[in-house]
Amino acid sequence: SLVDKANYRHFMAKEIHEQPEVVGHTLARYVDMASERVMLPVKLPFDFKDIQRISITACGTASYAGYVAKYWFERFARVPVEVDVASEFRYREAPLRKGDLAIFISQSGETADTLAALRYAKAEGVHTVSVVNVPTSTIARESETVLQTLAGPEIGVASTKAFTCQLMVLALLAVAAGKARGELSEEDEAKLVHGLVEIPRLMAAALTSEPQIEKLARDISKSKDVLYLGRGTSYPLALEGALKLKEISYIHAEGYAAGELKHGPIALIDENMPVVVIAPFDRVFEKTVSNMQEVAARGGNIILMTDAKGAAEATIESLVTIVLPDMAAAFTPMVYAVPVQLLAYHTAVVMGTDVDQPRNLAKSVTVE
Ligand code: G6P
Repeated sequence: SLVDKANYRHFMAKEIHEQPEVVGHTLARYVDMASERVMLPVKLPFDFKDIQRISITACGTASYAGYVAKYWFERFARVPVEVDVASEFRYREAPLRKGDLAIFISQSGETADTLAALRYAKAEGVHTVSVVNVPTSTIARESETVLQTLAGPEIGVASTKAFTCQLMVLALLAVAAGKARGELSEEDEAKLVHGLVEIPRLMAAALTSEPQIEKLARDISKSKDVLYLGRGTSYPLALEGALKLKEISYIHAEGYAAGELKHGPIALIDENMPVVVIAPFDRVFEKTVSNMQEVAARGGNIILMTDAKGAAEATIESLVTIVLPDMAAAFTPMVYAVPVQLLAYHTAVVMGTDVDQPRNLAKSVTVE
């Protein structure tokens, strides 16, 4: 059953390994497999052509899914997107244009700040879409439109499979938006959907990096601080990597946009602070390589998550490379989430923490 640990030591391990399956289920709900076109299971009560701006609001890991989605909506649909954490959005009195769209992302559908942000948006007269995992939740009930993730029950406090399922729904919604706004042709849509159909298989391939990551986790567990870097859609994933590590291993970690390295974190680089670089071979790869060189020149130890092309290009010493499958550049966060989660998980296991129930954290934060 989905709510026992099966043969895994922790729910988190089980939930990481379930991802190819549940992301595949989620995809199947939103795509017509025969024609490789997006087919939303619900009819949207608005036309994306009429939307001038999208506001995305969430907390924690769900907010990083929103941050990735910003890149997708802006690229595929050419619509500006703002992302906020709900605790800021709800009190900021952000001006929203009537008829625009606000998206709320929540695994539980009960997070107090996200719910308050949803109520604010409704009062402002915008359309509301929620991406939730629990269809009977308050956020689902109060939203104009619900797009469900089919992650199944997530028990580990640190979100894993809900995150990648959120990404899948948001990617498909961004493609639908691009199509509706005339920014994507039928051919573009088919190509992008085809890339998404490949994701479950690629996630399964990414899971084979686990033995290597388990070994790396032993080194990471000796560090006091870890820096995560990424550009483009890998930037929010760097934030998520740092969040996962600190939540469950209690090792201090920070995620940074790789280009901001020289504006601060470079001062911290020495042989004691590992730097995890998330850099698939995409159009910003070369830029990230030059950031890695800056880290290496200061004695920093780098763990590079990339693909075969990236591994061949990045000839830097003091580098450990985790090689992930070649894939469509737009959708790497779903696949690269796997090694990011595994690194946090195995580090926590080495540290001996309570992985599924980390201290001071709650699965669902229903009070402010
Ligand atoms: C808590 C959990 C996180 C989660 C966040 C948002 O902090 O520990 O894993 O990302 O709440 O929860 P939600 O249910 O709204 O996605």
